[in-house]
Amino acid sequence: MHGNKGMSQNLHHYRKSYQKGALRKQDAAADPFDQFTLWFDALKSLELDIEINAMHCTTLDAEGFPRTRVVLLKSFDRQGFQFFTNYSSQKGQDITRHPKVSLSFFWPDVERQVHIKGTAERLTKEESDAYFAVRPRGSQIGAHVSDQSRVIESREYLEQRLADIESLYENREIPRPDHWGGFRVIPEEYEFWQGRENRLHDRLRYIPVTSTETKTEIQAQNKKAHDSWIIERLAP
Ligand SMILES: Cc1cc2nc3c(=O)[nH]c(=O)nc-3n(C[C@H](O)[C@H](O)[C@H](O)COP(=O)(O)O)c2cc1C
Repeated sequence: MHGNKGMSQNLHHYRKSYQKGALRKQDAAADPFDQFTLWFDALKSLELDIEINAMHCTTLDAEGFPRTRVVLLKSFDRQGFQFFTNYSSQKGQDITRHPKVSLSFFWPDVERQVHIKGTAERLTKEESDAYFAVRPRGSQIGAHVSDQSRVIESREYLEQRLADIESLYENREIPRPDHWGGFRVIPEEYEFWQGRENRLHDRLRYIPVTSTETKTEIQAQNKKAHDSWIIERLAP
């Protein structure tokens, strides 16, 4: 139906009451990495048919405009949160210029949102190689085919490139292209949001407490973990 063409759509009645959980300071893990793991594992155990590792990654372009897109979290540990992409893509270029990023997850099934503020760094070639090697062949080929974020003339252009790359590597192992690899986002702040009734949601923010000694080590890239974290409740 095209009857609504050009008319504004009023969505004022789109609202939902959140009542699936609560997040109290006394129940929150002392370390936000542990809290993230708790929430992630809880979601995993629901075995939902959704990509729970899909996250929004926001970067700033050369003019300072933010851009958000979805990427898949491929690994996380106390060092940081990893995703893989094309280093020449817009996000790749943005991060190279300005490594401060935001990651966020929205998990509607559990009425939770997590926000991570952090600094992105490239994984080592060896780390990227290791993940590239376990990707399905089709994805490995895709990394060669796609000049991610470039303007291309047509779908046919992509399909032709796919055919070319497939024949180039026929019966051969596919090497990781130099322009493809991972980033690790090292968190500097976390926020955990749990939807509650009457819009009085729970929001806990974790701020790192870092001794001068640790700060120096972090700057020297010898250490990435903070000493401890302060938990603050934010108004919803
Ligand atoms: C569910 C989902 C998962 C995605 N995962 C990735 C990913 O892991 N890496 C990636 O480069 N792009 C991924 N994309 C595509 C990105 O959202 C984006 O279109 C692409 O990376 C180009 O972004 P850019 O031009 O802003 O750099 C995914 C998209 C969706 C919807």
